[in-house]
Amino acid sequence: MRQRGLSRLGATILGSALIAAVFTAGHLYSSATAAVNPDWKPKWAADGKLELPTGYREWVYLGSPLTPNALNGGKAGFPEYHNVYVHPAVFKIYKSTGKWPEGTILLKELQLTMEAQEKDGSRSEVSGRGYFPGAYNGIDISVKDSKRFASSQNWGYFNFGHHAPPYAKTAAAAPTENCAQCHIDSADEDMVFKRFYAILNTK
Ligand code: HEC
Repeated sequence: MRQRGLSRLGATILGSALIAAVFTAGHLYSSATAAVNPDWKPKWAADGKLELPTGYREWVYLGSPLTPNALNGGKAGFPEYHNVYVHPAVFKIYKSTGKWPEGTILLKELQLTMEAQEKDGSRSEVSGRGYFPGAYNGIDISVKDSKRFASSQNWGYFNFGHHAPPYAKTAAAAPTENCAQCHIDSADEDMVFKRFYAILNTK
């Protein structure tokens, strides 16, 4: 009897410790992810412009195409790394349905390569000769909204500045010929250049 009573007490203590551990882990998890605003829908200012989202550098990172000046006759349109991000909640929906939901924001932050030491724009670091990410230098965004952007295959395109931060807080949709048209002509799937984002192409 006494034996069983003791083991019940033991079980209770173990159970409470387990609950405390789970609670602590949950708490740590939520504080680590607190910077990502769970509200992932685009915010539209009173004048109809798109507001620049916050916390995007902690979103899911899709990839970084790079078109350096030295390989583009000295004048690439965007000589920086093109770091592309999507909100984790949208990423989850895409992974389970294979579709970008209404309100998807794809955010591309431009990041300069570090100062060149060679004619081809490269430099040498301890890991070898190559291109290395330097300062942030601009933001482009695409938003899926079939009502607002029905005339450009459901996506609108926005430029928040092509320069060092701070970026513009809001931006108006760019004319179709400036941005959307090239995505209409050349993108892989639903206006997105999926081929460059391995994370979207792997299970
Ligand atoms: C000449 C064609 C062309 C034009 C014009 C163009 N884009 Fe793109 N865009 C691309 C290509 C190619 C990629 C993927 C590869 C890369 O970034 O180099 C891309 C990627 C993007 C992405 C990342 C998501 C995706 O669709 O892959 C965003 C966001 C984006 N562009 C926004 C814009 C905005 C905003 C404009 C206008 C200011 C614009 N683009 C104009 C060709 C273009």
